[in-house]
Amino acid sequence: MTTIGGTQVGRVAIVTGASRGIGRAVAELLIRQGVHVLAVAQHTTLTTTVDQLNTMGTGRAVASVISIDGSETTAEQIVTQVNTQFGRLDYVVNAAGGARVTSVLDGSWQQWHDDFNVKFWGYLALIRAAVPLLKKSGGGVVVNLVGVAGKDPNPNLAIASAVNGALRAVTKNLADDLAAFRIRFVNVNPGATETDLLRQMAGGYAAKRNSSIEAMMAEMRQKAPLGRLPSAEDVANVVGFLLSDQASLITGTSVDIDGGVHRGLA
Ligand SMILES: NC(=O)c1ccc[n+]([C@@H]2O[C@H](COP(=O)([O-])OP(=O)(O)OC[C@H]3O[C@@H](n4cnc5c(N)ncnc54)[C@H](OP(=O)(O)O)[C@@H]3O)[C@@H](O)[C@H]2O)c1
Repeated sequence: MTTIGGTQVGRVAIVTGASRGIGRAVAELLIRQGVHVLAVAQHTTLTTTVDQLNTMGTGRAVASVISIDGSETTAEQIVTQVNTQFGRLDYVVNAAGGARVTSVLDGSWQQWHDDFNVKFWGYLALIRAAVPLLKKSGGGVVVNLVGVAGKDPNPNLAIASAVNGALRAVTKNLADDLAAFRIRFVNVNPGATETDLLRQMAGGYAAKRNSSIEAMMAEMRQKAPLGRLPSAEDVANVVGFLLSDQASLITGTSVDIDGGVHRGLA
């Protein structure tokens, strides 16, 4: 709790991609901890998620239905909304995005631009818009859901590998630039995680290999050394730790959660 103008206000987060999957699991974890959440997603189904979130804890969730397009205007709208609703900002969790199955050359130019717009420019624009409010709050934490393909480029996820690699570099520089303002930046790298996105990717692999989604899902699950792939909640627990004061000296780095699938060094 902190006090603004004599009123006690809880910690406040922006969580993008909050309608489903990892973003939703992060929003739920924060609401249960009493953090207020501006939940961002592109479809109106978000309002149903937010109604559910508002029954789960003492934090209050507010829906922001907006299509992230990588523009500064959209990012500023989101930050204005959080300021209007809650009057402060402590955490930003960037989780709106995806990963399509394509090689470098098979991906159309439009697909390259679309995916960079939503995830690379979308994450970066929101961070740039949010920093003044985080500074005003006396510090904060930004967690970006990036992905293991950013350090271990996957030829079948060529665009996502490039987006994630670029985000790793930006995160490191931001951590250096803003440490003096007590703003931390950390990437979380999920491996294949049991969300709608994974089924979508399994569909892409199935089309390439003339197989089925279920067969591709089974193959990915079988490759998990610890016996299962992470759930959205497994990933959210890592995000929750990184946002917490227990992680107060972790910045400018990435944390993998992939059940031991990837062998590259951090
Ligand atoms: N799942 C994995 O295996 C995996 C692995 C590595 C990295 N990641 C990364 O982790 C993040 C979350 O993935 P996920 O598995 O949770 O995905 P997901 O289940 O497909 O959920 C995606 C979320 O992002 C939102 N979203 C997508 N495009 C948007 C846009 N243009 N504007 C606003 N919201 C948008 C969706 O909103 P709507 O519901 O409104 O469409 C939804 O809330 C992504 O960046 C992904 O690349 C995931």
